[in-house]
Amino acid sequence: MIETYSIAAIPADGIGPEVIAAGVEVLSAIAETLGTFKIEFTHFDWSSDTYKKTGKYIPDGGLVQLKKHDAIFFGAVGAPERHSIVDMRADARVDVPDHISLWGLRLAICQPLQQYANVRPTRILPGITSPLRNCKPQDLDWVIVRENSEGEYAGQGGRSHRGCAWETATELAVFTRHGITRLMRFAFETARQRPRKLLTVVTKSNAQRNGMVLWDEVAAEVGKEFPDVAVDKMLVDAMTVRMVQKPDSLDTIVATNLHADILSDLAAALAGSIGIAPTANLDPTRQHPSMFEPIHGSAFDITGQGIANPVATFWTAAEMLAWLGEAEASTLLMNSVENICGRGIVTPDLGGTATTKDVTAAMLDDIKGVPEKTGQ
Ligand code: NAI
Ligand code: MG
Repeated sequence: MIETYSIAAIPADGIGPEVIAAGVEVLSAIAETLGTFKIEFTHFDWSSDTYKKTGKYIPDGGLVQLKKHDAIFFGAVGAPERHSIVDMRADARVDVPDHISLWGLRLAICQPLQQYANVRPTRILPGITSPLRNCKPQDLDWVIVRENSEGEYAGQGGRSHRGCAWETATELAVFTRHGITRLMRFAFETARQRPRKLLTVVTKSNAQRNGMVLWDEVAAEVGKEFPDVAVDKMLVDAMTVRMVQKPDSLDTIVATNLHADILSDLAAALAGSIGIAPTANLDPTRQHPSMFEPIHGSAFDITGQGIANPVATFWTAAEMLAWLGEAEASTLLMNSVENICGRGIVTPDLGGTATTKDVTAAMLDDIKGVPEKTGQ
């Protein structure tokens, strides 16, 4: 019997609906071409618009509905809040603040579904040039494993004496032995499956002498279970320098929620554009569905212009297929992405002139084996 996967699609805000629509088309084409599995999509309209209408991003019982699916295909969340400090000073008009949207939708899914490992592969695709001088594609091939359930984004802290001169705000970073152990095991496993078997543990234990020291200690303990994996340790500030100056010295990288959030944006930029970078929010125990999304946000500066780069979403879709066990389909999809990028059919963020629709149409042709058009 042919396997049918049920995928919950949550396009949400900004360019999210544009890139998820492209991703759904490509995934459907892959399934149809191979004929070895089927994909059924259920669309959820959870977004900042829904929040503005109903006061909720996720309706009552929403997570129960979500859990019934094999995986979640997510766009981006974030309303067009004014970002510049100048704008914020000139006018207090604010849409849904970012901390409300992020906690209302993305983190409200990742945390209860225990998607504790966030995986972010980065490499330089054919036809794409790194902004790093002399950086060849083989020099930058990384997987960043981000702690995705606690750390700096644990959600603990508070504000008191609001509006007073002595107003106080705390943001507590939470590190638990359980949380670090399960994440380190996942990171070592990931490193072990890659040819170089090298894991770099990112830390800041010189300045942060409690949580980050536990982080280092647990990394060392778990490392004993993986004698075949080489480990090194980097302070997060020095890590940014190493990523830029010696990209070929890195392979698999594990870092906290906040550190990896920042490092992976840098990684995406070094590989060419934030518009190509994928993410998988995994529950490695497979008790709950995992969630797959491009790294980028809702990009209101280009929303509706039809120029959003769909490659991050296609790569994300390939990661989703691999997680579902469809390795052949995943490879096929990535081969098509590489063909299209290699032929220079890219959006303006990569220096091209193609639209989201052009890139998607070229992908569909490539997947279906339609011969390349001349003069393109
Ligand atoms: P952003 O990723 O939305 O945009 C940063 C820059 O990259 C913009 O100039 C944008 O045009 C460009 N860009 C992003 N994706 C692109 C694509 N696919 N193709 C071409 N160009 C692309 O980050 P920003 O501006 O910091 O955040 C905007 C909103 O998105 C905020 O509300 C933020 O909270 C939210 N956000 C949501 C995320 C999520 O849902 N996982 C992740 C990051 C930000
Ligand atoms: Mg980020």
